[in-house]
Amino acid sequence: MSEQKTIAGFSKLSKRGKIRWIVENFYKDPETVFNELVSFWHPKEDQQKVLDGFSENTISNFPLPLGVAPNFMINDKVYLVPMVIEESSVVAAASAAAKFWFSRGGFKAEILGMKKIGQVHFVWKGAFEKLKSHFALLKEQLILNAKPITKNMEDRGGGIADIELVNLSDKIPDYFQIKAGFHTCDSMGANFINSVLENFATTLASFFISNDQFQGQEKDVRIIMSILSNYTPENIVRVTVSCPIPELYDEKTIPNPEEFAEKFFTALQIAHVDPHRATTHNKGIYNGVDAVVLATGNDFRAIEACGHTYAARSGQYSSLSYCSIEGGLFKFWIDLPLAVGSVGGLTSAHPIAKRSLEMLGNPGAEDLMKIIGAVGLAQNFAAVRSLVTTGIQKGHMKLHLSNILTQFGATEAEQQQVEKYFEDKVVSYSSVREYLEEIRKQG
Ligand code: MEV
Repeated sequence: MSEQKTIAGFSKLSKRGKIRWIVENFYKDPETVFNELVSFWHPKEDQQKVLDGFSENTISNFPLPLGVAPNFMINDKVYLVPMVIEESSVVAAASAAAKFWFSRGGFKAEILGMKKIGQVHFVWKGAFEKLKSHFALLKEQLILNAKPITKNMEDRGGGIADIELVNLSDKIPDYFQIKAGFHTCDSMGANFINSVLENFATTLASFFISNDQFQGQEKDVRIIMSILSNYTPENIVRVTVSCPIPELYDEKTIPNPEEFAEKFFTALQIAHVDPHRATTHNKGIYNGVDAVVLATGNDFRAIEACGHTYAARSGQYSSLSYCSIEGGLFKFWIDLPLAVGSVGGLTSAHPIAKRSLEMLGNPGAEDLMKIIGAVGLAQNFAAVRSLVTTGIQKGHMKLHLSNILTQFGATEAEQQQVEKYFEDKVVSYSSVREYLEEIRKQG
């Protein structure tokens, strides 16, 4: 077994001290790695401080490319969309799909709901009926006591939307919830919701102490935890593209629109019935969604977790997008839960996220949802279009080849020669390396 390296007080070391310990203990070439990690520090100290502030034990930065997808027409407005992603072909595919739909009416987006959810999970050992009969009074107190926290949000048009008592004692003995809905305006609202929920928990505990009806039962209640739910099935954007089937014609990609529409429709049916395909299908959607979520400083883990739960809401994991062919009209749409914010959190603190939002014209949360939903749908359209026509590898391999050539530092002339050679061959890392070596030998 290899030697286990542990350390006490790592977080107390300076940044250089941390790197020094790491390179000396985990690498064969400490100096090279030390310099490499330091080389990725931001040249401006104040900017580096900002980045370091987002996390802990930071030693360097991990750069990802920021790309843009132009020509996204959403509700007749055109956007240049920033995307942060490490996978080749994604931005190209989004751009191609945006261009395709640009000349076919663009994307139509509507908000179906903006409600977020939070829960106080608690155990109550008394009778449910008693709790229920006092819930109206408790609710009043919950709202009143939370006022100092909710006031500001209410002034902006948000706040608590509803509060209900949920009885889950048939699943776990004595287990109940206070489940609340929230409107958080243009912010994602996690801090706001969690603060209100913790305030609710305090009110709940004191309700049993101060209310005569519950005398002697103060100890029958136990707060387990108070936290927002990342599952927001009522925080949804719907994005649609549609056109008459003949208008799907595209010389290069869709020479036969009738056949294409039928195959596309069947591909969607498959994603609706088969979880294996559904997972990959939805992964393609999140290629686009995550890239914009990241670029705009939003929480991609929350967005993904929510989307996958939503995709499984029927009890079986299924496609997030839908297709219909009716009366000769091809329609393709997506319903996506997206609890994103365009103010607060990283959206303004991260220098590039701020620029990304500026690039989008500083949208409110609703417009940002529409943009992200459109990119998700575009990405899905591009992927399924490739799959049911040329196959996915053609485009992927072209980019893969170009990445490999960059890695080997190929010259312009070498690139051209290799690209020509691989036009009708299978690209692999080793086959490209071998061919490149061969032409380099030949000089
Ligand atoms: C690859 O990142 C995404 C796809 O697999 C999506 C799909 O299969 O629909 C191409």
